[in-house]
Amino acid sequence: MGLNPIPGTIQPDYDRKTELTAFDETKTGVKGLVDAGITEVPRIFHLPPTPENLVNSDQTSRSKPCLPTIDLEGINEDSIKRKEAIEKMKNALESWGFFQIINHGIPVSILEDAKKCIIEFFEQDTDVKKQWYTRDLSGKTKVVYNSNFDLYSTPVTNWRDSFYCTMAPNPLQPHELPLPCRDIWPEYSKQVMKLGCCVFELISEALGLNPKHLFDIGCTEGLALLGHYYPSCPQPELTIGIPNHADNDFITILLQDDIGGLQVFYQNQWTDVPPIPGALVVNAGDLLQLITNDKLVSAEHRVLVNKNCSRVSLASFFSTGLMPTTKVFEPIKELLSKNSPAKYRGTTVKDYVDYYNGKGLDGTSALSHFKI
Ligand code: OGA
Ligand code: NI
Repeated sequence: MGLNPIPGTIQPDYDRKTELTAFDETKTGVKGLVDAGITEVPRIFHLPPTPENLVNSDQTSRSKPCLPTIDLEGINEDSIKRKEAIEKMKNALESWGFFQIINHGIPVSILEDAKKCIIEFFEQDTDVKKQWYTRDLSGKTKVVYNSNFDLYSTPVTNWRDSFYCTMAPNPLQPHELPLPCRDIWPEYSKQVMKLGCCVFELISEALGLNPKHLFDIGCTEGLALLGHYYPSCPQPELTIGIPNHADNDFITILLQDDIGGLQVFYQNQWTDVPPIPGALVVNAGDLLQLITNDKLVSAEHRVLVNKNCSRVSLASFFSTGLMPTTKVFEPIKELLSKNSPAKYRGTTVKDYVDYYNGKGLDGTSALSHFKI
């Protein structure tokens, strides 16, 4: 999409690599800096001051579009309600690439527990947490905790710590999970997988396909949970929690807390994804855009940070990620015609994710690399 000029294309006038290494070696991420009482954002985190990066710039003169919320209540019993939901989802994914869902069937208590365990993971004893710290993105390490997976390749370090685990197709045994997540993640994954299958059915129907189409081709085979912690930030205007990016999966189902900061790029402006109690955010990833041949869009989004409070979120990525596979995903034949030929070459999920991770969140789209 080429929204923002690539941050940091100007070479820094300091030894960035040394400062990154020192930060990395603390193994305590951004939270470690905040705990140590820093009052200024270190320069490795500074965004270049381009107009696009003036994240708190005033946009009040423009009317604010409102992200669609879709009610899933009764869609399995009432065909009119189902049709309505499908229509709304189609419109949302063709334009926004994002929507929120309510009455999705996951009990609020499970959502609350899932959020709580992210906080507990990041706020646990530092020496215990450090044991999970790794930069091994090969897929061999099952639980990955670090700050900025692309630390050494991206020009701007993000104000965010993260950890992830693969939950399908080869779920971790509870004892392999960090203690705070041991009880809740298996249950949460089960519920999210069920909901994801329902959402993929609705998307299949929205595309005019058999309801099981996206399931049958393997969109629900993989699931990874990714917990984010965005510490409070003494100078939030200087940095960013996640810069503009699109996700590298089929869909993401995101649970956010009530702090806010997530924004989606829609009709040339950044629009808030407001926290709604009990709701989940759903967005299309690059692989869904690829297999739908641009019918559905994987929108750019970003996360701003806050001065006085930390924020957590839990993203469920429908993707087999770096798991070795031979299955090739390509534009769905039923969606192509003489006038609408394939725009992308086929790829395995692993090849896509390898390319995406190698590039890092540099403000450019990974999808264009796969264009024919
Ligand atoms: C992501 C993401 C948003 C958030 O994990 O890709 O965009 O609110 N997360 O944490
Ligand atoms: Ni994302």
